[in-house]
Amino acid sequence: MTLRAHILGAAAGGGLPQWNCGCENCNLARNGKIPSQTQSSLAVSANGNDWAILNASPDIRQQLAQTACLHPSNLRTLPLCSVLVTNGDIDHVAGLLTLREMQPFSLFATGAIHDVLSNNTIFDALNASVVDRQTIATGQSFDLAPGLSATLFPVPGKVPLYLEGDEVQTDLIGDQTVGVQLTAGETTAYYIPGCAVLNDELRTRLHGADAVFFDGTLWRDDEMVRAGLGQKTGKRMGHMSMSGPDGTLAAFSNLNIGQKIFVHMNNTNPVLRPNSSEKTEAEAAGWIIGQDGMEIVL
Ligand code: MLT
Ligand code: MN
Ligand code: ZN
Repeated sequence: MTLRAHILGAAAGGGLPQWNCGCENCNLARNGKIPSQTQSSLAVSANGNDWAILNASPDIRQQLAQTACLHPSNLRTLPLCSVLVTNGDIDHVAGLLTLREMQPFSLFATGAIHDVLSNNTIFDALNASVVDRQTIATGQSFDLAPGLSATLFPVPGKVPLYLEGDEVQTDLIGDQTVGVQLTAGETTAYYIPGCAVLNDELRTRLHGADAVFFDGTLWRDDEMVRAGLGQKTGKRMGHMSMSGPDGTLAAFSNLNIGQKIFVHMNNTNPVLRPNSSEKTEAEAAGWIIGQDGMEIVL
């Protein structure tokens, strides 16, 4: 059994370029000097014919148009069997509204994430007679697509920005932010597009995996502050950053993982510039910088 993963969108919320951003990377992308990237989504398949989409990005219409393996094979016959969302963030759920045209598929999420969707009645546009919303408890294995099973597990994170109260815990462990274990035959891969900290439980879980697609939001925690784009640090957004002693490169350095691929990169991240020293440093540490359209076959 082969596990195929197709990166539909390698960028974090906002994409590259982000509509209102004049940072160095966004200007380079706007001018065609570096590749643009759409927002956070991964398509996976065990047989190359039936696909699941992990996170429905606001760019899903463009992503589907650009991805031949997801095109209709007949009038309304699609190779898409299911959609899974890993949190309630806008970059992961807004694309569900695009998938509303009476198209049957299963929609997998935890109870907490389904509650976010059902409390927003605009998502009723996904007609319940065709879209089967299935609540998946963490730790419970389920069939995501033919030959492809999945298990959700808690990842430190926070509630979506639009649900934040006065006090925000950024490393909450529950079922509001989850990672996905994917298993096809003997092959195991993980998808974790948002992670506040790599705790011991996660380290143990990921050790020995064939591939890990991981949160690459920022290179350094204060990157957006230094770029003059506001006061938000990576930590405040519930994301660990790539560099530094408690960064992702260091945290993964002793783990035995076949392929480590960064996804969910914010448009300010210097690794998105093909010639940057930061990209070279990440690659030297064994990381692949995810790109729209990249296919990883395991
Ligand atoms: C995040 O990953 O931190 C969120 O997508 C941010 C947002 O919703 O804008
Ligand atoms: Mn995001
Ligand atoms: Zn920017």
